[in-house]
Amino acid sequence: MENKAKIVMDNVRKVYTGHDGKETLALDGVNLTIEENEFICVVGPSGCGKTTLLNIIAGLETATSGEIRLDGEPIIGPGNDRGVVFQQYALFPWLTVRQNIEFGMAYLEKEEIRDGKTRVRRYTRQEKKETAEKYMKMVDLADFANAYPKELSGGMKQRVAIARGYAIAPQVMLMDEPFGALDAQTRAQLQEDLLKTWQQEKRTCFFITHDVEEAVLLSTRCVIMSARPGRVKEIISIDLPYPRNQATKLLPEFNVYKNQIWEKVYQEYLEFRK
Ligand SMILES: Nc1ncnc2c1ncn2[C@@H]1O[C@H](COP(=O)(O)OP(=O)(O)OP(=O)(O)O)[C@@H](O)[C@H]1O
Ligand SMILES: [Mg+2]
Repeated sequence: MENKAKIVMDNVRKVYTGHDGKETLALDGVNLTIEENEFICVVGPSGCGKTTLLNIIAGLETATSGEIRLDGEPIIGPGNDRGVVFQQYALFPWLTVRQNIEFGMAYLEKEEIRDGKTRVRRYTRQEKKETAEKYMKMVDLADFANAYPKELSGGMKQRVAIARGYAIAPQVMLMDEPFGALDAQTRAQLQEDLLKTWQQEKRTCFFITHDVEEAVLLSTRCVIMSARPGRVKEIISIDLPYPRNQATKLLPEFNVYKNQIWEKVYQEYLEFRK
């Protein structure tokens, strides 16, 4: 039912016009409904339009035709209800780790009941500080709170971007290969943190990854996109038990899902190379 769904993508089409006037059909009629509290992972060959789709949900780009609705309302621009972790960490080089995370919260508002009335107010400095600290700890960067991005490794920068996304506590998390550049141990740790956070808070997640194993571990449903122009090729429900952690990968069903999805993505890749 549409009014219960969190995000509805309705025949989303995107045509880019390049600098030479050449047109690229990036998305061709994407239809997908995401229910509240779902964890959707999106996989598909490089260039199939995953980032484009995420940017349209984020309100950073517009669809050429079709629309995306969030809680029934068409998306017309960015908003605090959606937190984004970009494919390439977009940090401000002149701000420290702590300031980068707090910056995201600058316009955050909070509802508060005072004298029986609901009021909306901005986060206080103290609230921003505490929230930043909580998520810096989560991504293991508390000791680097006052460092600048240029003093951090690639993986550390990505962890700052992740903390900044979490800190605004959005209803929807949009994550574009957030763990792609991390070492295997940090990646495993952050996957578990993300699973734990999702199980506690059940925010709707839209998570792009190239790593099929990661998609199976994290998602409630895995969306396989076709090669360009991107469409939803198939959706696979991942019925693995919770709580999930690295040990979940040892379950026989885990491998069944992994092989099934891998094969379909590989088929699309071969199709694209033809
Ligand atoms: N600003 C742009 N101008 C012109 N073409 C673009 C633009 N952004 C993306 N495209 C094209 O749209 C298609 C989809 O790109 P997109 O970045 O969404 O793919 P992707 O699935 O995220 O790929 P990857 O897995 O490599 O990140 C590509 O063919 C790309 O060249
Ligand atoms: Mg991309």
